[in-house]
Amino acid sequence: MPSRGRFITLEGGEGVGKSTNLALVRDHLESLGIETITTREPGGTPRAEAIRELLLAPDEAETLADDAELLLVFAARAQHLARRIRPALERGAWVVCDRFTDATYAYQGSARRGDRSAIAMLETFVQQGLQPDLTLLLDMPVDAARERVTARGQGLDRFERERAAFFEAVRQGYLERAAAAPARIAVIDAARSLTQVQADICHCLDQRVAAWRS
Ligand SMILES: Nc1ncnc2c1ncn2[C@@H]1O[C@H](COP(=O)(O)OP(=O)(O)O)[C@@H](O)[C@H]1O
Ligand SMILES: [Mg+2]
Repeated sequence: MPSRGRFITLEGGEGVGKSTNLALVRDHLESLGIETITTREPGGTPRAEAIRELLLAPDEAETLADDAELLLVFAARAQHLARRIRPALERGAWVVCDRFTDATYAYQGSARRGDRSAIAMLETFVQQGLQPDLTLLLDMPVDAARERVTARGQGLDRFERERAAFFEAVRQGYLERAAAAPARIAVIDAARSLTQVQADICHCLDQRVAAWRS
């Protein structure tokens, strides 16, 4: 039996650079001889990606109820864990995921003011104790991140259409998570150049890998 792989998540609001740095994390781990897969939430399998479409489609004829949003997030997560994340970890691969449950606390908890005990209950039910081994929280002021999203030049999804106060609440929600779990969550200053951000991420990975191997 190979030992279980490590589970690493990338977190932060819209435009902080999660997707940009996902491949960097994988390539860096692969360069250390670690088999690594990348994936994202909501989504990561065909059925979970179908749920993602339901979550991100802009509200037009029908708005999405907050409790339905929360349940869809965890339905996608249950499928992703069952069909992709757990099988990879069990065969010894490492998994790098663009967003996970910290995002649920930040978006559906802090920004939508959802019931944290409901999130915690679903987290327990769906994850059965599985938590990320390391979370890289990319943090930067929301205005500058917003400019990156605009410059990225794709259409805006249902979350990206939210107002500034929503993004500020997301940021604060993430920082509260980091303050409560400093051993797991590393806060990276994402406002700097990509070269600087990537140097920080690699340094953080090197430290963790060394600690886990010793
Ligand atoms: N450190 C950085 N400095 C400047 N631009 C960046 C940096 N990191 C990412 N970007 C750019 O900002 C935009 C948003 O990055 P992206 O990775 O899509 O963010 P996220 O996945 O967190 O929403 C992209 O166009 C990306 O090329
Ligand atoms: Mg992204």
